[in-house]
Amino acid sequence: MKTLVAYYSRTGNTKRVAEALAETLNADIEAIVSDTKDKGMGRLAMQAFLRVHAKIAQTTNDPASYDLVVVGSPVWAGKMSSPIRTYLAQNKDEFTSVAFFCTHGQPGSEGSAKMLESMETLSGKKSAGMLDVAANDVESAAYVEKAKRFAAALLELPSSQ
Ligand SMILES: Cc1cc2nc3c(=O)[nH]c(=O)nc-3n(C[C@H](O)[C@H](O)[C@H](O)COP(=O)(O)O)c2cc1C
Repeated sequence: MKTLVAYYSRTGNTKRVAEALAETLNADIEAIVSDTKDKGMGRLAMQAFLRVHAKIAQTTNDPASYDLVVVGSPVWAGKMSSPIRTYLAQNKDEFTSVAFFCTHGQPGSEGSAKMLESMETLSGKKSAGMLDVAANDVESAAYVEKAKRFAAALLELPSSQ
């Protein structure tokens, strides 16, 4: 299965999960680039909350050439990050199959489940799987096992492989 992991990460958490997934899935990886580093958290949160599309740099991998695209975003103000909103809107007609993951600061996955569902809605495709990872799991490296289990399920392999 030809797989792409596409993600946006401002402070590295989503990047680390993306890299763990890509390794297990033997996937190509696309880091979405946006100018959000120059903006304050309040402004970013407001933009995400208002579903504003951020400007993103030209991506390098064509989603249409993959069997599965796994898209990852941090949770911002309970929503997907603005760069991922742009990526999904730009590519929704290109995906063959999709799965989603997010990282979030607050423990518990209630808000992130809603956010992952909104990514699915925007993609226009039924998701093959969804994963949420709390930021403190990323700090403790517990995310690696979680990411591997998720990736194994996507590959329909036993998680021990
Ligand atoms: C603008 C902004 C808004 C955020 N809003 C939320 C939120 O609503 N809920 C939450 O659990 N975490 C929130 N966070 C925390 C991030 O989701 C969390 O730190 C995430 O792992 C960051 O991913 P990154 O390191 O890949 O950028 C927010 C962070 C930022 C910068």
